[in-house]
Amino acid sequence: MSGDGATIILSFQPNHFKLFLSKKSSLLVINAKCINGAKNRIKSKNAALVHIRHPKDVLSKMASSLLLQSADSLQDMKKGCKVEADTTKKIVVRARANIERNRKGDRLIECIDVLCVQEDGDATYLPVDNDDEEYCEYITGKTYENPISLKVERSKIFAEWIIDTYGKELLCRGTGVLDVAGGNGETCRHLVAKGIPVTLLDPNPRCGSNPGFTIIPHPLNCDGSDLTSRNDNIGNIVRNCSFICGLHPDQATEPIVSLAERLNVKFAILPCCVMPSLFPHRVQRKHGDPVRSYSAFCQYLLDMAPEKEEFLVDHLPFVGRNKVIYRAPS
Ligand SMILES: C[S@@+](CC[C@H](N)C(=O)[O-])C[C@H]1O[C@@H](n2cnc3c(N)ncnc32)[C@H](O)[C@@H]1O
Repeated sequence: MSGDGATIILSFQPNHFKLFLSKKSSLLVINAKCINGAKNRIKSKNAALVHIRHPKDVLSKMASSLLLQSADSLQDMKKGCKVEADTTKKIVVRARANIERNRKGDRLIECIDVLCVQEDGDATYLPVDNDDEEYCEYITGKTYENPISLKVERSKIFAEWIIDTYGKELLCRGTGVLDVAGGNGETCRHLVAKGIPVTLLDPNPRCGSNPGFTIIPHPLNCDGSDLTSRNDNIGNIVRNCSFICGLHPDQATEPIVSLAERLNVKFAILPCCVMPSLFPHRVQRKHGDPVRSYSAFCQYLLDMAPEKEEFLVDHLPFVGRNKVIYRAPS
């Protein structure tokens, strides 16, 4: 699986927390308020759930250091109850730059390292690793710019990622790339500019009448059989495409995977809306729960990989839903 990508350094003031201890994987979930955020990711004063995963004993020690010192709260913490934190403490963490949200809309901060737990009144957040350049910038007050682009740049970033990942030779085969749910045609335009033949398939295309690429104003449903069985140019284009992509393709997300599997071509999608009421039949393979959240939907799509194949995941550097699920280039 390639790149979980960029990391950011953040600090939080814990409000309360819960400790989930188990032999296999222990988890500390801290309900916290952000103190120092990161541009385009999380702002100061935003609430978040900070997830810290460590071996059992390390987590117990860490949790005790955040605890209001009373015998009762120690017992409650050991029992896995919600406990109040000592709000004079601060916690500084290195976390994944890609911040997801749970069903309730809470920001989930997935920690890679806890850099320090600090007492109120300390002069500065003391780094655990003094050689860490990013951290030194952080404590010396220089602006730390995360390598994250604005959402409007997503089509360009996606098109460049497609070319880098699959190469022009593969993309130019047959009738070229099929951009499903292409909307205003931005991704198509970037691909055409690099000399790649492209067709936009969208029931509601918004790219003008002469955009420089073919438009099929139809939806993609199920596995696209209604399109591939046609005896016309539309059927020919879809049957012979080299690659299928979809940037936030809404209802077409699952059909892209089904069509790509049936045609045996590569694909790359960035899922966005889950639409559980429109697709109530979707259940998670692992435990049969309905697919309601974004992360459950991504897992559902990953589970669609045929036997002996694994779909891959990457994250693109822009704000918003930036997780790519894709078929390995070779
Ligand atoms: C959120 S927009 C994304 C547009 C574009 N890819 C972007 O990122 O700017 C979703 C697009 O999906 C299209 N769409 C919805 N259902 C579709 C389907 N079944 N097949 C193809 N496109 C569909 C809509 O018309 C709309 O243009």
